[in-house]
Amino acid sequence: MIGFDRLITGASNIADDVDAMFFAMVALCGFVLLAVTVTLVLFSVRYRRGSKADRSGDHSRHLGAELTWTIVPGVLFIGIFAWSIGLFAKIQTMPKEATSIHVVAKQWMWKVQHADGRREVNQLHIPVGKPVRLTMTSQDVIHSFFVPAFRIKQDVLPNRYTQMWFKPERTGEFRLYCAEFCGTDHALMRGRIVVMEPAAYALWADAGGTDSLAHQGEALFRQLGCSGCHGPAATVHAPDLAGLYGKPVPLSDGSTVTADARYLRDSILLPSKQVAAGYPDIMPTFQNQIDEEDVIALTAYIQSLDPNPDPDPRQETVDAPR
Ligand code: CUA
Repeated sequence: MIGFDRLITGASNIADDVDAMFFAMVALCGFVLLAVTVTLVLFSVRYRRGSKADRSGDHSRHLGAELTWTIVPGVLFIGIFAWSIGLFAKIQTMPKEATSIHVVAKQWMWKVQHADGRREVNQLHIPVGKPVRLTMTSQDVIHSFFVPAFRIKQDVLPNRYTQMWFKPERTGEFRLYCAEFCGTDHALMRGRIVVMEPAAYALWADAGGTDSLAHQGEALFRQLGCSGCHGPAATVHAPDLAGLYGKPVPLSDGSTVTADARYLRDSILLPSKQVAAGYPDIMPTFQNQIDEEDVIALTAYIQSLDPNPDPDPRQETVDAPR
């Protein structure tokens, strides 16, 4: 059983920053509430009907007071704004060395794919002290990946990849919740993040012993017939996929896109949406034939085809096999 402590005590690199900002805002708002309430009560008593208070209006203007109550809150709230922008940037800036993990949400479970092929449902095992980057998508409706102890929350959307990262700083089990109402069993869409010592994690990871994500993708690539057109021996005129990942792709409409995870996903599921320049629009769609996990495996395979891999061309990446 995960205790209350596991919910409220911060356990990630940003937890203290988020807490500091949260309590500063509570304190500031509390102070404003108190100041307004006390003034309201004092004035209500002083200017009640029949009191002998001075109502002449002679002192109704006071430049010093007006400047003070304009400038002081202005500086305070702009300060909070600057602080929150800084924290937001820290939360949004993905460290390059982060381990990439994929999450597919569906009604009503969390499915996890590690780059080495291990899969988990409603669980995520990670080593302590190492940054983790989650690339997430949904197979149906909008969900939201929320780990209170890590102070992180990110919406998970259909037809789109969203990302977030964190560095766990305490070992133990932490609760994962879905924080977006997603249907009947939304409240049951929970999981746990298991943060382990590196040695224990290595043991756990070795016990998994499956095929890497890229290898699973390669098998799918053949099974689905992709290799018939995109393979080296293919006679059909289809774009060569080796070295494609992360590179600019000229399209038939004259524009150019980067071949990132999103572009590859669209090319597999909605091939007519963005057709590479110089190629006919003949690729069949694989929508409703393969699921998001298959798309991620295929993307990992295509990324692994790069002869000279660029470490991280963009944030939207899928890891090559270990
Ligand atoms: Cu998924 Cu709420």
